[in-house]
Amino acid sequence: MNIIDGRAVAAQIKLEIADEVEQMLAEGRKSPHLAAILVGHNGGSETYVANKVKMCGEIGFKSTLIRYEDRVSETELLHKIVELNLDPDVDGFIVQLPLPQHISEQKVIETIDYRKDVDGFHPVNVGRMSMGLPCFLPATPAGIRELLKRYAIQTEGKHCVILGRSSIVGKPMAALMLQKTYPGDCTVTVCHSRTKDIQNYCRDADIIIAALGVPCFLKGDMVKEGVVVIDVGTTRVPSKETKSGFKLKGDVVFEEVAPKCSFITPVPGGVGPMTIISLMKNTLLAGQKAIYGYETETI
Ligand code: GUN
Repeated sequence: MNIIDGRAVAAQIKLEIADEVEQMLAEGRKSPHLAAILVGHNGGSETYVANKVKMCGEIGFKSTLIRYEDRVSETELLHKIVELNLDPDVDGFIVQLPLPQHISEQKVIETIDYRKDVDGFHPVNVGRMSMGLPCFLPATPAGIRELLKRYAIQTEGKHCVILGRSSIVGKPMAALMLQKTYPGDCTVTVCHSRTKDIQNYCRDADIIIAALGVPCFLKGDMVKEGVVVIDVGTTRVPSKETKSGFKLKGDVVFEEVAPKCSFITPVPGGVGPMTIISLMKNTLLAGQKAIYGYETETI
């Protein structure tokens, strides 16, 4: 059984990105610039955005944090997005989700210029991903792909079972594992809250990507010997053991499942660190205009 070390892989990629930034500066180019919009005071969002801004500083990116109170109007937020779309100094930006009820997340996502959509949430990026065209990939699926690659995990012809159908993880992961390029070529099954006899799919799986957000869902008797398990779950549960007063719980009962695995990601320290570094990778590509070039007309 091999434990996949997401922290170590993320640290390696961080060095690779920092090197690229140095090279850009040496060539007289500006460093990539990520802007983040944060609305309200959601504890999780505050932490995620703070970590993203901190990471930018550590790898030599420029970053800008734009904050609004919960009561900000949809119109004001959309105006700021248009401003960022037009700002030539900003290479990529994100609007941290979730947003307050009175703001349409869909409208927000569709207002972002897809060429600056480093979250990969815009329909143009989602569509291009489904077609296997160059685009910004959403951070968590991109991070999982990178882990599969760096551990040289075989995927061709394997049965990959994805637990969860969210737009951020389950659906894009299914599209990616289906693709002809490595890591892909899988037979993909997507299970969700309405799937009957979910354990039967899990027991047949060669690769399980658990992204239901249900702590301790996948148990030892639900997997076969030699399975690869990627645990995307990050539910915050209260804890007296940590300073913050909570700890992260995965979707997998690690102690039961790990002994049967060929590879498994722990929580924390598996997929989590890869998610933020994948956003940094997208920002680097945005700064280098590596995907959509400098063209201003739409494709
Ligand atoms: N909320 C939870 N995950 C994400 C993410 O990857 N990007 C944004 N913008 N919001 C999120």
